[in-house]
Amino acid sequence: MRQFVIAAGLIIAAVPYALAEDISVEEGLRISIIGGCHDCHTDGYAVSGGQIDPERALRGSAIGFKGPWGTTYPSNLRITLSKMGEDEFVEYGHTFKTRPPMPWFGVHGMKEDELRSFYRYVKSLGEPGAPAPDYVEPGVKPTTPFIVFEPQMP
Ligand code: HEC
Repeated sequence: MRQFVIAAGLIIAAVPYALAEDISVEEGLRISIIGGCHDCHTDGYAVSGGQIDPERALRGSAIGFKGPWGTTYPSNLRITLSKMGEDEFVEYGHTFKTRPPMPWFGVHGMKEDELRSFYRYVKSLGEPGAPAPDYVEPGVKPTTPFIVFEPQMP
């Protein structure tokens, strides 16, 4: 019995370490790819067939998405995360909301460990760089290139 208790205690003590091993920059990179974050937040990624330019990785884009909500720009995630601690980002990742076409509801579904790995990956990318352009209200013409994101009549 005593041996069993000791063994169970060792297993319980080992669990946090096993979890911690899954939280890493490499895992964060993997999550950023399967989560589709680079598709919009890394300029040139989608057209290059999935090449991540380390200079531009998750620095956002100055090409807007124009729809009924106005024009939105994929934000510079390096800047966003540079202003938050890891625990704060976990909270943010489970609660934030944005205008379209950002799939914020998908990020809410990420597990805590996944958000922690994503955070560490973004932090590893280095210099945050410049912010993406500001949001433009509906009815106002953007001064940057933009993608029309609404159904067009034939
Ligand atoms: C379809 C394009 C698209 C994809 C895919 C996408 N984003 Fe976004 N994201 C945007 C746009 C556009 C905004 C700005 C929305 C606004 O201005 O309201 C944004 C905003 C955000 C914001 C809020 C602004 C900020 O920096 O705090 C976060 C956080 C974010 N995205 C994280 C992610 C993560 C993490 C992923 C991958 C899981 C992802 N995005 C995938 C387009 C996208």
